[in-house]
Amino acid sequence: MTGLLGIEPLERSDVEEILSRSVQFQTPRNEASPRSEALRGKLVVNAFFENSTRTRVSFEIAAKRLGADIVTITTSGSSVSKGESLVDTLNTLGAMRPHAIVMRHAASGAPQFLSRHLAAPIINAGDGTHEHPTQALLDARTILDHRESLEKLRVAIIGDIAHSRVARSNIHLLSKFGAEIVLCGPTPLLPETMREIAPGVSIERDVPRAIEGADVIMMLRVQLERQHESNFSATEYFQFYGLRLEHLSLAKENVLVMHPGPINRGREIASEVADSTRSVILNQVENGVAVRMAVLERFSR
Ligand code: NCD
Repeated sequence: MTGLLGIEPLERSDVEEILSRSVQFQTPRNEASPRSEALRGKLVVNAFFENSTRTRVSFEIAAKRLGADIVTITTSGSSVSKGESLVDTLNTLGAMRPHAIVMRHAASGAPQFLSRHLAAPIINAGDGTHEHPTQALLDARTILDHRESLEKLRVAIIGDIAHSRVARSNIHLLSKFGAEIVLCGPTPLLPETMREIAPGVSIERDVPRAIEGADVIMMLRVQLERQHESNFSATEYFQFYGLRLEHLSLAKENVLVMHPGPINRGREIASEVADSTRSVILNQVENGVAVRMAVLERFSR
């Protein structure tokens, strides 16, 4: 396979290999970050046609720690804002002969489209509402830092599932391991059909019921930039779908609270929960670098 376009097309063994390789790139406490020369002399192009902080920066750090040269192109500073078509921009990037192109784009399917036009492997860093494979991999790495296995876990994913590429990639990944996945959110943000994404998925509209006995609670941001169907006020949304401290007692005692970021405190998650000892939100960010090192090492030419 060339590149990493999504989690759906991967075999469970691919996921396992990436997750176990990324352990080698994790930084033990008080130790210098692991470095490698695996991509010495190689060029990684980081093409971000949509806003990003965590993902863009962690791909940059990951490439540097592997010894690669990396250039980052963002929409506002590139010819895309001068009206150049996506194919022309990418052909230009392709002419630089990169060994991998990391790409984020607002259109679902954009990386798949480009991978058919370009020789360089494409690593999807988030395409529209479709997939965000490295986020699901770093989420799985974070869960496995605290649990023996992904099998038989009960995972509640709460919020704007319909517009979330993070949810979709996580559903595909967790489903390959037989996890029980409970999706929770209001109907406009979680249509009934979403239970068909993968085996093991169910829908629960009530937050307390969704998190009952959960090993993991994944909270999602309301993707205001992608949705036009509903108009909850922040207060209303938080009242019905926000995660509050009192909810945690319904889940397993050692429940992990996750969020891909950026978080909106007081909208989808209470500050006391985001900052609680159950929250692994910053561990997710930290694992982003290790997992992206494993991904760049595996998929670069
Ligand atoms: C997510 C994304 O961009 O899909 N963020 C991220 O990559 N950490 C989720 C979001 O924007 O809400």
